[in-house]
Amino acid sequence: MRELLSNSKNCHIVEPLLLWFRRAARDLPWRSTYDPYHVWISEIMLQQTQMDRGVVYFNRWIGRFPTVRAVAEADLQEILKYWEGLGYYARARNLHKAAKVIADELDGQVPCNYQLLLTLPGIGPYTAAAIASVAGNQDVAVIDANVTRVYARLFDIDTPAGESLTKKRISDMARELLPRGRARLYNQALMDLGGLVCLPRNPSCEVCPLASFCKARQVGTVAERPVLGPGKKIITVEKVAGIIRHGDRIFIQQRALEAVWGGLWEFPGGELQDGTAEEEVVRQILTETSLVVRVVLPVTTVIHHYTRYKIVLHSFLCELIGRNTQTTLRSAVDSRWVVPADLGSYAFPAGPRKILKYIKATSPSLFESPRP
Ligand code: ADE
Repeated sequence: MRELLSNSKNCHIVEPLLLWFRRAARDLPWRSTYDPYHVWISEIMLQQTQMDRGVVYFNRWIGRFPTVRAVAEADLQEILKYWEGLGYYARARNLHKAAKVIADELDGQVPCNYQLLLTLPGIGPYTAAAIASVAGNQDVAVIDANVTRVYARLFDIDTPAGESLTKKRISDMARELLPRGRARLYNQALMDLGGLVCLPRNPSCEVCPLASFCKARQVGTVAERPVLGPGKKIITVEKVAGIIRHGDRIFIQQRALEAVWGGLWEFPGGELQDGTAEEEVVRQILTETSLVVRVVLPVTTVIHHYTRYKIVLHSFLCELIGRNTQTTLRSAVDSRWVVPADLGSYAFPAGPRKILKYIKATSPSLFESPRP
């Protein structure tokens, strides 16, 4: 530890890094103003999202919600619709909550104070550090996966990056190396270096401005840094969903706010348990909604990967038996019979979205009722 810190002190990475950043910085929309609101939105979106995709969502978001007050005044359904596809929907719900606090208590201004930021819903140490330093140029080090990789290679850290002792080592180092008064540029330069040059696989060491300081490069361990811990096991969950057709309408239901994918819409169903998928979808729909249906035909099976889960979702076109459209919802909080053309105005999680995309591409006539 002592050795690493003295290494970091002796390592003059700041100037070459900032020189490189001046030339190679990514042209990102929030970098033209460093408006704290813009930086906040970008930071929340970029968690678990690739930069290219994040920029598209960011521009669309700012077009619709140009100020914090616009977010605070919007309906949660619209917020979720603008977030649809980014996943981790708790981030959007927290953004909405935090925007209301900022509008009501902070005069609509996103703060740049690290401690104050931490009091807002959905803002943890990483996001607070990023907003405080990038928007406010406060002397706070930002450590994300890209920065961790850069430091792990620069100092050839041979302990697993996920371990708390390693995290502490890196954050001590980052704090020490941070050039006072230049946190905005320094933190972003490290993030861009990790995102553009010091890549997880096949890093471009030949163009790296820090290559001559990089201990892992000197000893030939770049490919093994950062050290990864034992892989977490991915759990497979099989689910069934029924697309219930009745006349010219399709049944959708809304998940409870506190549930996973809270506030989003879905086709009813549930986890595959004992029976066949077809039997299960009928049974689960009855339990969940009290609607009595029969399966017309299987539609498709879609797979979606999450950090810890793999969801395998079997979908079936179903028809209401009889004419009873009355529901008693068990876990959902709202339901609608909608015409297919209106499905686009509801936010769905990835699974149902993939099913809808499949139907649109291959068999749009599924949504049409058979002629009597
Ligand atoms: N990733 C997350 N925030 C970033 C930023 N401000 N610059 C570059 N990459 C980032």
